[in-house]
Amino acid sequence: MADIQKIISDVTQERGTQRRILLPVLQAIVKEKNYLDDEDMLAVAKALDLSAADVFGTASFYTFLDTEPRGKYVVRVCKTISCYMAGKDDVIKALEKSLKIKVGETTVDKKFTLLLANCLGWCHKGPVMLVNDEVYPELTPQKAVEILHKYKNGF
Ligand code: FES
Repeated sequence: MADIQKIISDVTQERGTQRRILLPVLQAIVKEKNYLDDEDMLAVAKALDLSAADVFGTASFYTFLDTEPRGKYVVRVCKTISCYMAGKDDVIKALEKSLKIKVGETTVDKKFTLLLANCLGWCHKGPVMLVNDEVYPELTPQKAVEILHKYKNGF
């Protein structure tokens, strides 16, 4: 289990306790335990001397700061205009069918969560998805499902 106080103190010892380190602290927690819960955010608010509303607001603004448990692999398909025009809807349908879940859901075995994301900065190579930190551009429905199979089978 992640030691939230240790994560917070590791980041604050290195970078101080000013408000600008709020995002790095939240990212460090998500990296360690995959999501943020209310207790984590209250602990961060206390450590950085911020209001809970400030921390909750920041966490909910950034879609990458998950505030609920996610699967081992978080698949995020870009939903923005270039990827939309390049066929992201067909990619999403194929992923939903393959995973047997809808966008926003996690598979029963907790292995995959399927989410949408805003522009990932690869607009010229859409449709694009991320699996955790790994970028997969120029997707077709078939290519997206093949990529998932690699994760399902542990490569
Ligand atoms: Fe999809 Fe930019 S619109 S990566």
